[in-house]
Amino acid sequence: MQESILTNITEAIYQHGFYSSCNFFNDAELNLIKSLYFKNKDNFVEAKIGSEKDKNLNKSIRNDKIFWIENNCEEFKAPFFNKINALLSALNRRCFLGLNLYEFHFATYAKGNYYKRHKDVFNNKDARKISVVLYLNKNWKKEDGGELLLYTQEKTVIIEPTWGNIAIFESSIEHEVAISNTDRLSLTGWLKNEKNIFT
Ligand code: OGA
Ligand code: NI
Repeated sequence: MQESILTNITEAIYQHGFYSSCNFFNDAELNLIKSLYFKNKDNFVEAKIGSEKDKNLNKSIRNDKIFWIENNCEEFKAPFFNKINALLSALNRRCFLGLNLYEFHFATYAKGNYYKRHKDVFNNKDARKISVVLYLNKNWKKEDGGELLLYTQEKTVIIEPTWGNIAIFESSIEHEVAISNTDRLSLTGWLKNEKNIFT
């Protein structure tokens, strides 16, 4: 990975709180990640709102399905987690976020699915600092919808869920997923500053 990409990302997060582009993962990596989705596609479950203690299923807010990826999953190391680790270190160096943990899941939105305006920081738990969403939809068209709308202080940013596009943003920024008019696949996760990592 080019060091300049990491510099661009960390600079954008530091200055604006968000970053988006389609050149963080290359085609070979994206194809591998997508093949791991196909391998696990029968194991997806309905997504829930809130932290572990407060899992009230609320379909009026979100109705996607997810599959959590183990952090030690060997198959994800080369195509995905190696770069996520590099990103985490670069963000710590530039933004002093004290990131020490991450968690990722695949998410599928079927036709008509959405995720209403929300923050990724739970009320009772603020360990999530940076949200990362990688989109895996080839041939995505404008009429397919399913855009990520980021309500930053400066403006509303619209991010299309196209193949290889990545959105990286502060988890405290409000955002939503517009109704998707077709199947929509992403790999979503959070870089965390987990204070109780040893408990
Ligand atoms: C989320 C989320 C955005 C997206 O899962 O919390 O906001 O574009 N996802 O899938
Ligand atoms: Ni979110």
